This record gives sequence, structure tokens and C-alpha cells, in this order.
Amino acid sequence: MKTLVVGASGATGKLFVEQLLSSGQQVKIIVRSTGNIPDNWNNDDRLAIIKRNITEIGVDEMCKYVRDCTAVASCLGHNLTWKGIFGKPRKLVTDTVRVLCEAVQKTLRKSESNLF
Ligand SMILES: NC(=O)c1ccc[n+]([C@@H]2O[C@H](COP(=O)([O-])OP(=O)(O)OC[C@H]3O[C@@H](n4cnc5c(N)ncnc54)[C@H](OP(=O)(O)O)[C@@H]3O)[C@@H](O)[C@H]2O)c1
Repeated sequence: MKTLVVGASGATGKLFVEQLLSSGQQVKIIVRSTGNIPDNWNNDDRLAIIKRNITEIGVDEMCKYVRDCTAVASCLGHNLTWKGIFGKPRKLVTDTVRVLCEAVQKTLRKSESNLF
């Protein structure tokens, strides 16, 4: 089982990824910076790190990331700063979850059509 986690560098995301790894699962994370993640994650074979700003990822690119995953989780949240709350992106979580859902649906449709 492999889980894609967005928002993995946050307080909730770090705990969640640690739990997945300690239960023996494979994990893929998308982070805009590797500076906020634990050092040991860089040397863990079960963890794939994609360094990319989530707000710049469209459905087609996201399809590549969800393709080999069996679960997707969002731990994104606006940073609790003036800019984080009132600045762009205004709908970080909603927009990202929408892209993730569309990518999952598109990927499933593609794999189903390949069966016939
Ligand atoms: N129900 C509950 O009891 C409960 C408890 C805790 C949290 N939550 C929810 O869980 C979510 C996360 O909370 P948290 O405390 O873990 O927050 P957090 O520590 O602030 O983490 C936020 C995450 O979102 C990312 N992020 C923020 N702004 C971004 C942007 N513009 N572009 C890309 N990534 C961005 C951060 O990346 P960077 O590290 O790069 O900034 C980080 O990975 C929130 O929605 C919160 O409401 C719920």
C-alpha cells in the first residue's frame, strides 16, 4: 500500500507520515521545501519525496503522482500568519483537494478503459 500525502511538512502531516512509515507502508509526499521535514526521511527507501509547489500542480501532472498510490491524504492548512491566512492562495485546501479528486477519477477511468 502506498499513500500520497500533501501537507506532509506540517504538524499533522509529519505525525501522519511517521505513523504510515512505522506501520511498514510506502509513502509519497509532495512538499514545497525539504527544509521542514525530518532528516531521516531523506534516507528512507519507503518514502518518495517530490519537491514541488502543490499550487502549481494541475490535474495531468497530479495523475502521474496518484497513479501508483492506493490512498491519498491531505494535511494541508493555511500557515497561521497574516500572509498565510489572507494572502494567496485563498483556497489552498479546497483547490488542492479538487485537483487530487479529479486526478484520481481520471486515473481510474484510464485504467478501467485499458481493461477493455
Ligand atoms: N481536527 C483537528 O483536530 C485538527 C487538528 C490539527 C489540525 N487540523 C487541520 O489539519 C490541517 C493541518 O494543520 P497543521 O496544524 O498540521 O498545519 P501546519 O503545521 O501549519 O501545516 C500546514 C501544511 O500546509 C502546507 N502549506 C501551507 N501553505 C501552503 C502553500 N501556500 N502552498 C503549499 N503548501 C502549503 C505547509 O507547508 P510548508 O511546511 O511548506 O509551510 C504544511 O505542510 C489544517 O487544515 C488544520 O485545520 C485539524
